[in-house]
Amino acid sequence: MQGPLTVARRPTISLRPAVASDRRQVYEWLAKSDVTPSMMGPPDYPDLSIPTWEEFCADYVPHYFDDSEPLSGRCFIIVSEGQDEGVVCHNAIDEQRRLTELDIWLQAKVYCGKGYGSGTLRHLCAYLHEAYGVEEFIVRPSKRNRRAIAAYKRAGFELQPLTPAEQRTRFGDGDYDDCVVLLKRLTVL
Ligand SMILES: CC(C)(COP(=O)(O)OP(=O)(O)OC[C@H]1O[C@@H](n2cnc3c(N)ncnc32)[C@H](O)[C@@H]1OP(=O)(O)O)[C@@H](O)C(=O)NCCC(=O)NCCS
Repeated sequence: MQGPLTVARRPTISLRPAVASDRRQVYEWLAKSDVTPSMMGPPDYPDLSIPTWEEFCADYVPHYFDDSEPLSGRCFIIVSEGQDEGVVCHNAIDEQRRLTELDIWLQAKVYCGKGYGSGTLRHLCAYLHEAYGVEEFIVRPSKRNRRAIAAYKRAGFELQPLTPAEQRTRFGDGDYDDCVVLLKRLTVL
């Protein structure tokens, strides 16, 4: 991808392809910010421990932060009015199923609940559909994360009536004991 993508919506959001020097900051937002307890670690999420830097790097390998393997996974920094507000990532694109899984976290509570998350997801889905023909997008939050689920629904995702066993069969292991699957479908424009 060349430069930032602008979303013509309020709030104004653009997605900047993340680079290697963003990696540490993206980790700090995930593991050491005031939004961390709303997605991982005790008391609310004892089933998902907060990753160390080394564990994070093992998951978010270098291609998430460069253009070397765009189909294997990529992170984008969410920017609004010149300010970095969070990160959104897609995992490997399954070319046969035209499917990928997304992850998102804003950098601080102060940015939450203002439409940045849902706007970002709508935008990233449209981009991945156009650029790579992705037709199905999933997110797999904990059932406890009501704000994330509301934001995903606002972005056009629908809760899937799948048992834990069905989820595992279709999408592999999730992060939480009570994962739910929300899916957004974009077919030919
Ligand atoms: C999840 C996240 C990306 C969503 O982005 P966001 O910009 O906050 O979400 P939006 O403003 O687009 O939408 C928020 C929705 O949640 C609702 N909401 C806000 N605070 C809430 C709360 N404490 N409990 C339940 N719902 C809440 C809003 O009313 C809105 O729903 P609506 O459109 O039905 O009114 C963001 O909140 C975040 O980074 N949270 C911390 C990290 C995280 O949980 N990441 C997801 C891991 S799966």
